[in-house]
Amino acid sequence: MLRPSAPESPMALPATDSTTLPVADSAANARRQRWPWWPLLPLYPYGRRRTLVRELLPGRLWSFEQLQGVWYVAVPIRMTVLRLQEGGLLLYAPVAPTAEVLEQLRALETSHGPVRTIVLPTSSGLEHKLPVPAMARAFPQTQVWVTPRQWSFPLRLPLAWLGFPAGRTRVLLEQGLPHTDQLDWCPLGPLDLGLGTFMEMACLDRASGALLITDAMVRIPSDPPALFDLDPTPLLFHARERGDEPLLDSPERRYRGWQRLVLFANFLRPAPLDVSSPGEMLGDCLAPGCRGPRAHFGFYPFRWRPGWQEEATALMASEPAGLQVAAVLERLVFPRQRAALVRWIRQLAALGTLRWLIPAHYEAPVACTNDDLLALADRLEAREWAPSEGAWAFLAGIDRRLVNLGLVPSQGEEA
Ligand SMILES: [Fe+2]
Repeated sequence: MLRPSAPESPMALPATDSTTLPVADSAANARRQRWPWWPLLPLYPYGRRRTLVRELLPGRLWSFEQLQGVWYVAVPIRMTVLRLQEGGLLLYAPVAPTAEVLEQLRALETSHGPVRTIVLPTSSGLEHKLPVPAMARAFPQTQVWVTPRQWSFPLRLPLAWLGFPAGRTRVLLEQGLPHTDQLDWCPLGPLDLGLGTFMEMACLDRASGALLITDAMVRIPSDPPALFDLDPTPLLFHARERGDEPLLDSPERRYRGWQRLVLFANFLRPAPLDVSSPGEMLGDCLAPGCRGPRAHFGFYPFRWRPGWQEEATALMASEPAGLQVAAVLERLVFPRQRAALVRWIRQLAALGTLRWLIPAHYEAPVACTNDDLLALADRLEAREWAPSEGAWAFLAGIDRRLVNLGLVPSQGEEA
């Protein structure tokens, strides 16, 4: 299959490419990219977090992206850095503060003033919560703001026990809101998930029209994000047809790997996929070119069925806005919460003039108007919600089991 040519990016800004920071792969970089707290949430790429820094809006907004995922199903996770009008910087949804990240933040501080505020904009997203204490320690003068209804699993621990600085941590809404001269805040939730509460705080920078969100909406690009140029291993791993194929690199393989990776990330177990027999699995293991941990010693127990590309293409954004609720969230987090989600999207559309959406995953910035959000809300209301057939069957099975075990509520209710 030939890789289609990349579409003209509607959100590309002149400054974006020219300010991408080149990162050479060297031992010195490995030290700068070390993340010692990875055992607390052991996700790929574990103890080494490469970071892509991009200027999204010149002099105003920057993206710090790292890869994060399970079994090479890794997607970008993003911290957004916003320049404050009063001087200084706000960090929204921190990523792992490696030495490399801190160097880049210190460089921004030199031009724009100190980091003043750190925001944890979700109550449940562990991947966003875990970096916050370390980031707060790196900037001891900052005020830390967290979304209400924080929780931890398996034990409910107070924030101070999780490393949040007790003397300078405040709860959004309950103890005020930061920088309201510049920012509007809009919560989704709290929504009762049974095991805990879902809540997300969106933040609109009125002057730039940039709306910062966390997990609830994404735009999945049809091409692999530039972050994979720093580490294409996840793409090459999933591009193979069998476990005994070595990890070879080419644009076509990266594109195929991205499509499959997106299917795994959205549906956990994509429908057009067969699991190999134990004999096939063993036969693939330790094949020449696969005898190392990078290829998981040849362990890749899947065979993709013809037609899998159509499932992947359906998930990829085909329009400039191209916003969606990720399937895994729709079926496992919001299956009975469509009304609350749609209401929130309409509230966002009423906040002020929107120009950009900056989610914490996948693509950013996404060109997005108020009408784009209203159109998304209408689409979500009009179509079937959280289906159970076809590609959705595996997610639906998980949801059914959780409901039957009484771990999640069977009715959609706000917490
Ligand atoms: Fe997230």
